Amino acid sequence: MRSRFAFTLLPLTLVAGQQIATLTAEVHPSLTWQTCTAPGSCTTNNGKVVLDANWRWLHSTDGSTNCYTGNTWDATLCPDDATCAKNCALDGADYSGTYGITASGSSLKLNFVTQSGQKNVGSRLYLLADDNNYQMFNMLNQEFTFDVDVSHLPCGLNGALYMSGMVADGGMAQFPTNKAGAKYGVGYCDSQCPRDLKFINGQANVDGWTPSSNNPNTGVGNHGSCCAEMDIWEANSISTALTPHAADTPQQTMCTGDACGGTYSSSRYGGTTDPDGCDFNSYRMGNTTFYGPSMTVDTTSKFTVVTQFLTDDGTAKGTLSEIKRFYVQNGVVIPNSESDIAGVTGNSITTSFCDAQKTAFNDKNVFADHGGMAAMGKAFEAGMVLVMSLWDDYYAHALWLDSTYPTDGAATSPGVARGTCATTSGVPSDVESADAAAYVVYENIKVGAINSTFGSA
Ligand SMILES: *[C@@H]1O[C@H](CO)[C@@H](O)[C@H](O)[C@H]1NC(C)=O
Ligand SMILES: *[C@@H]1O[C@H](CO)[C@@H](O)[C@H](O)[C@H]1NC(C)=O
Repeated sequence: MRSRFAFTLLPLTLVAGQQIATLTAEVHPSLTWQTCTAPGSCTTNNGKVVLDANWRWLHSTDGSTNCYTGNTWDATLCPDDATCAKNCALDGADYSGTYGITASGSSLKLNFVTQSGQKNVGSRLYLLADDNNYQMFNMLNQEFTFDVDVSHLPCGLNGALYMSGMVADGGMAQFPTNKAGAKYGVGYCDSQCPRDLKFINGQANVDGWTPSSNNPNTGVGNHGSCCAEMDIWEANSISTALTPHAADTPQQTMCTGDACGGTYSSSRYGGTTDPDGCDFNSYRMGNTTFYGPSMTVDTTSKFTVVTQFLTDDGTAKGTLSEIKRFYVQNGVVIPNSESDIAGVTGNSITTSFCDAQKTAFNDKNVFADHGGMAAMGKAFEAGMVLVMSLWDDYYAHALWLDSTYPTDGAATSPGVARGTCATTSGVPSDVESADAAAYVVYENIKVGAINSTFGSA
């Protein structure tokens, strides 16, 4: 039901594919975030963010010939996966100029469309611990809190803040032909096992590459990159979803062809991950007045999102048992809405919630098939990387988030209505022109003990 496709057209800079280039210096924007032990007891961490490799200019290691133009590979530089990784370099990024990404203090703003000689659409960034390593998170018995401004995110856009089972160095140690690593945003994976990545496991994704029929910048290769994914936040001003996605192997693994499953493959459930997840979207759970403009959680102004990851024994060694959500707006703590769906109770994600929801919505329980809550907890134990992105959806127009989906389903049938957006909304060519000025702001990230990051401080 989701995909991650956004893209840039030939950024004007250089680094090595799996090599690195320095026509533009790679200067990671600084972003502070906090670690808390009790309300008011927080320490500040000086983090940085890095742009994903797929958005970067990829060119010949010794010059400036494009290795990838539009949505096709250069046949000379990239005749096959291994040669391409040797011949091509990823370059540094002009974060604000080319990509519309600006960071200040604890605040990160991602613009939707940026015109600078070429058109860039959206972005995907990762939080770094240092210039060469991603910050790793284990959220068991912890909570994650941030402020978000979705007021300029219309139907069809997804401002997403989530965690993926990427490895800390972006795969450099495991795959020596990967010379770029976390410093250049290499090593992405998620529960859709994305096959649009240009590099996976130290090799290019040239073999079998089919340029997209509707996206001028992307394509689908023979390999995909799988891992567990915890969607803390996927949202626009109309709808939001909180969704754990389990995986048989929590950390990054390469898959091949349609055996990858997920959005990019013909057999959605053919892989080793759970592409659907177990979602809590208040509208889909029957409360149509909870989240939106001027609603209980008023999306016309900024608010705080708190997500707690509780374990069965109340320690970080326990098994993940419940994912709870609170909002805070204008000083008021707002518990998540309760399910209004017959047969489904509660306002949090637990195994019994997921089982009941899948039954009520007549959805295949792929979350349980891949280990459910316990598997999500295993992914935290292995360590996950924080991802912040803004994208539009070339596969399903984000209708799975904010509209009636499937579009031929009856909106009265449980689980089909997810938001008030029209089934004709979210078409990339429409939103990229009409809503080019859209943006999202993520700020004041805090991670810590349960109940330590919000409320009375
Ligand atoms: C929606 O949620 C709000 C806040 O929790 C609550 O006051 C309202 O009664 C809910 N509406 C329905 C239809 O459940
Ligand atoms: C956190 O706060 C909630 C609501 O006030 C309370 O029910 C819960 O027991 C608290 N949890 C911990 C671990 O302090």
